[in-house]
Amino acid sequence: MPPELSVVIPCFNEAANVRPMVERLDACLRDIAWEAIFVDDNSPDGTHAVARSLAVLDPRVRCLRRIGRRGLASACIEGALSSSARFVAVIDGDLQHDETLLPTMFEAVRSGRADIAIGSRNVEGGEKNSGFSPLRARISEAGAALSAALLPTKVRDPMSGFFLLPRVLFEDVAPQLSGRGFKILLDILLSVRRPLRVEEFAYRFRPREAGESKLDATVMMEFLGLLMDKALGGVLPWRFLSFLAVGLIGIAVHLGILAILAEAGQLGFATSQWIATFGAMTVNFFLNNRVTYRDVRLRGPALRRGLLLFYLVCGIGAAANVGVARLLLREEGLAWGLAGAAGALITAVWNYAMSSTLVWRA
Ligand code: GDD
Ligand code: MN
Repeated sequence: MPPELSVVIPCFNEAANVRPMVERLDACLRDIAWEAIFVDDNSPDGTHAVARSLAVLDPRVRCLRRIGRRGLASACIEGALSSSARFVAVIDGDLQHDETLLPTMFEAVRSGRADIAIGSRNVEGGEKNSGFSPLRARISEAGAALSAALLPTKVRDPMSGFFLLPRVLFEDVAPQLSGRGFKILLDILLSVRRPLRVEEFAYRFRPREAGESKLDATVMMEFLGLLMDKALGGVLPWRFLSFLAVGLIGIAVHLGILAILAEAGQLGFATSQWIATFGAMTVNFFLNNRVTYRDVRLRGPALRRGLLLFYLVCGIGAAANVGVARLLLREEGLAWGLAGAAGALITAVWNYAMSSTLVWRA
C-alpha cells in the first residue's frame, strides 16, 4: 500500500538512534500506512549507512543523503518535498520527541479538524526537558516570546520541531521558506499568510540517550537571522545583515590590532595599518565562511582560493571607499561624516555583491 504518512526524520550523527526509531514507529503506527524518510547530511558516524541497511530490508524505510550541505531546516524541507504521501510529519531523529503521539496528531489533521498538529512542550501536561540549562531555558522562552509577536497564528510552542500537516499545505508554503537554521515550524508559521487551525499535543521532551545536540552559537545567530528576515519582510536579506554584522566585528578587530601595535611601538603607522587590515579581512573571511555563507561553506583548496579572492575584493572595495568619499567631499562639498558614510556603504554593498557571486557563489 502506498504510504499515507511520510515521517521525515532529520539526522546528524544519529547512527545509534536509527534502528530504535524505526522500531518505535513500527510499534505505534500499526493502523497507518507510513514511511520513514531519514535525511542525513553525510554524518561522519555513518548514519546513512545504517538507514540504508534497514531500507534494503524494509520498503517503508528511505534514506536521503545530502553531501556538501548542512542544516536542520533545509533537511526537513527536502525530506518533505521528497514525499508523495497525503500527510507529512517531522520528528527529531534522536528520540527526544514522543512518537506515540503521531496517531492522534494524524487523526486531528486527516479528519480536517486541524490544518496542522504540533507536539508542544508548553500546553497542559507538556513538559520541557528538565535537562535544559537555565540559560538554554531562558533563551528558549525569549525566542518563543519574540516569535509569538510576529506570528499570525497563536501557537504555544512555535519552536517545536515535531509536527504533522497535509503535504499540499507544506508544498504551498515551500517556495516562501527560508530554510535557514533550526526552526522549520516557525519558518512555516511565519510564511503562511492566513491563520491556521492549530491543534497542540502535550508531550515530555525526553532526555537524549545517544549522540549529542547540534545546537550551537551559529544556530542561535541563524535563528535571529530568520526572525529578522521575516520581520523586515525580506527588504534586507538575512545574508546581507549577517555580512554587515561580521563587517562590524572586522572593524573592532582592526582597531584592536592597531592599538596593540601602537602600544608595542616597534612599527610605523602605515605598516601597522596594513597588518590590521589583513588581520580584519582574515577574521571576516572565516566568520563569513562559518556564518554568512554557512550553506555554501568553502573547504580545502577552495578555501585558500576564496581567501585570496576575498582579499582582492575587499582591497578594491577599500580603494573605492577612499575614492568615493574623497570625490563627494571635494566635488560635492558634502560634510566629511556623510562622505565617509557613503564611501563605507558603497564598499559594503560592493564587498557583499562580489563575495556572494565570486567568492562563495551563494
Ligand atoms: N540532516 C540534519 N542536518 N539533521 C540535523 C542537523 C543538520 O545539520 N542538525 C541537527 N539535526 C538533527 C539531529 O540529528 C536531531 O535528530 C534533530 O535534528 C534535532 O537536533 P538536536 O541537536 O538534537 O536539537 P535539540 O534537541 O537541541 O533541539 C531541538 O529543540 C527543539 C525544542 O526546543 C530542535 O531540534 C527541535 O526540533 C526541538 O523541538
Ligand atoms: Mn535533540
